[in-house]
Amino acid sequence: MQTFQHYLQSQNQVAPELRDTVRSVVSACLNISANVRLGALAGVLGEAGTGNVQGEAQKKLDVIANQILIDELKQNPNVAGLASEEEDDFVACHEQGEYLVLFDPLDGSSNIDVNISIGTIFSVLKRDKTVSGSLKVEDFLQKGAQQVAAGYVLYGVQTVLVLTFKHGVNVFTLNEQGEWLQTHENPKIPEQTAEFAINMSNQRHWEMPVQQYIGELLAGKDGARGKNYNMRWVASMVAEVHRILMRGGVFLYPKDNRDSSKAGKLRLMYEANPLGLIVAQSGGKITNARENMLEIQPTGLHQRVAVVLGSAEEVERVRELHG
Ligand code: AHG
Ligand code: MN
Ligand code: MN
Ligand code: MN
Repeated sequence: MQTFQHYLQSQNQVAPELRDTVRSVVSACLNISANVRLGALAGVLGEAGTGNVQGEAQKKLDVIANQILIDELKQNPNVAGLASEEEDDFVACHEQGEYLVLFDPLDGSSNIDVNISIGTIFSVLKRDKTVSGSLKVEDFLQKGAQQVAAGYVLYGVQTVLVLTFKHGVNVFTLNEQGEWLQTHENPKIPEQTAEFAINMSNQRHWEMPVQQYIGELLAGKDGARGKNYNMRWVASMVAEVHRILMRGGVFLYPKDNRDSSKAGKLRLMYEANPLGLIVAQSGGKITNARENMLEIQPTGLHQRVAVVLGSAEEVERVRELHG
């Protein structure tokens, strides 16, 4: 089996500086993984007692994972700057660096203390060199389609690294020696599925098209869709995306009528775009229910969006219902 190190070395079509940037992210994730694995034994569970710019209470591991990534990336001269779900503003790193790294250091925070899969999600953008001067927030506000690499590490039953340089997707599994070995090449999300993921407890807040869509699925074999659908909800987007990558499915986190969710819950830059690139590179689709997610022009680092992703036929049906 090919190691991640060999894989990176063999990617001659990818700039060495970009490969090195991704190497740093993955190295930080290995360190995060060690903390995740030990849990209570390392004293990393529970609340941090602080809040983030998203208005969320931070868990200790949100803060630890964020700091591990920042420390690692600051050491890499190829990194011009970074942005994180857990940081109010972007952090400038190396003036000569060519790459910007955006991340959700710990996705699925509500699952940390109950030993359910969580992950780290990352997105890499190239800094536009034609814009001179010091790093600005605008440098980060690039469409998802402009990402040059994206991926995640899932701290699950197995620890897996899923990565794309936009030439397909590769999956690596962490062994006992701390090496990543390639275990899947170019997984493909089937076009059709009979499995959906949505937080049903929000049903009363959903807008009409989402009510209608989920109604169709729940109607089962005798309804308009003519088949019985099963449902899963992990509450870690990274784990839902991994399930969909491995066996298909559709995931929705719609915007709804509550003041707090008018724009959606998930973050465009740290969650939707990187996971969207993985999904798109695997033959799946991702939308905010109206537009292709990867073509949305971002207006803010912490911008929230509605998310519908996964098997093409279902994502298309949701779009259709949104008119
Ligand atoms: P994070 O832990 O990074 O803040 O993200 C959690 C997100 C996402 O991973 C998951 O799909 C969703 O929140 C779960 O939300 P509910 O608790 O509303 O189900
Ligand atoms: Mn959070
Ligand atoms: Mn998240
Ligand atoms: Mn997070």
